[in-house]
Amino acid sequence: MQHLKYYIVCLFHALLLVAKTRAKVPAIIVFGDSSVDAGNNNYIPTIARSNFEPYGRDFAGGRPTGRFSNGKIPTDFIAEAFHIKPSIPAYLDPAYNISDFATGVSFASAGTGYDNATSDVLSVIPLWKELEYYKEYQRKLRAHLGNAAANKVISEAVYMISMGTNDFLENYYAIPGGRQSQFSIGQYEDFLVRIAYLFLKELHGLGARKISLGGLPPMGCLPLERTTNFMLQNDCIESYNDLALEFNGKLKGMVMKLNKELPGVKLVFSNPYYIFMHIIRRPLSHGFEVASVACCSTGMFEMGYACSRNNPFTCQDANKYVFWDAFHPTEKTSHIIADYLMKTTLAQFRS
Ligand SMILES: *[C@@H]1O[C@H](CO)[C@@H](O)[C@H](O)[C@H]1NC(C)=O
Ligand SMILES: *[C@@H]1O[C@H](CO)[C@@H](O)[C@H](O)[C@H]1NC(C)=O
Repeated sequence: MQHLKYYIVCLFHALLLVAKTRAKVPAIIVFGDSSVDAGNNNYIPTIARSNFEPYGRDFAGGRPTGRFSNGKIPTDFIAEAFHIKPSIPAYLDPAYNISDFATGVSFASAGTGYDNATSDVLSVIPLWKELEYYKEYQRKLRAHLGNAAANKVISEAVYMISMGTNDFLENYYAIPGGRQSQFSIGQYEDFLVRIAYLFLKELHGLGARKISLGGLPPMGCLPLERTTNFMLQNDCIESYNDLALEFNGKLKGMVMKLNKELPGVKLVFSNPYYIFMHIIRRPLSHGFEVASVACCSTGMFEMGYACSRNNPFTCQDANKYVFWDAFHPTEKTSHIIADYLMKTTLAQFRS
């Protein structure tokens, strides 16, 4: 009897300890491109926008937000899975203020990349400027919560970084005489990895501790790229997929190394490639019907302003499609990828 009582008391204390150490993630803080932009580009002069119909038709209220999706993007689902809130607002959106941003904010800008020359192509927010906005956010957060509480949010928040596709597809391969005349493709990859490395170090220096660096998707399978592959019946462009795999390998190596170098950091490499490829190659097993073309318009090349309202070709049910426009996944695809990341690399941030 005594033994049992002792056992129960111990168990109780153990449970209490677990509850205490399983601190809640207070905020999700996002940097990157259109894969995670919640609408910052609505407030800068650029054509890289999506704040009009049919974008957002499956978002709460059926409202276009500037997300390149029919609904939510992966970081929204991740904020939801951490029980924080249903979506993450854009930093430049005047409808939100520091009370909202204290639990999550996106500094991402569609069309941007690691390389300054990439953000120049469509006059969007370069990565260094996303970080400047983050510094301004820290000042506002300290004024709003006080130093101690703000520092707690800063160190316990999960930071998500996702970009790189535009560096290759919108910049390196799209602009002959640009980066191609300076770098071989391997050198360009190393140039980008070095920028990512310096960015992560600076973010850590500013107090971030739980950081997820995202990898590239199978970018040769984006409908826009498949459309150009008419020699091979519009199949995926293997060379772009191989490039994504190679670049992801380099990013992962850098992340592993940095994880050992930076004190107190939990740095993970979140790789969307294989789950995304599985969805594209076996759409039926994930509940999709179409993977080769997108829902919007003809599905072959339209995105942004070309993916216009009232286009008779636009699909009725985006849940049957892997891709929403020629460059971006549907909400349903984003949900599957977010769930996968929550079960894998992001799981350790729960505790
Ligand atoms: C933020 O906005 C809400 C609602 O509009 C308002 O109640 C709140 O006082 C604002 N907070 C700050 C810090 O400005
Ligand atoms: C990008 O531009 C910023 C601002 O001009 C500069 O500080 C930074 O060094 C540039 N990055 C690279 C890799 O050239």
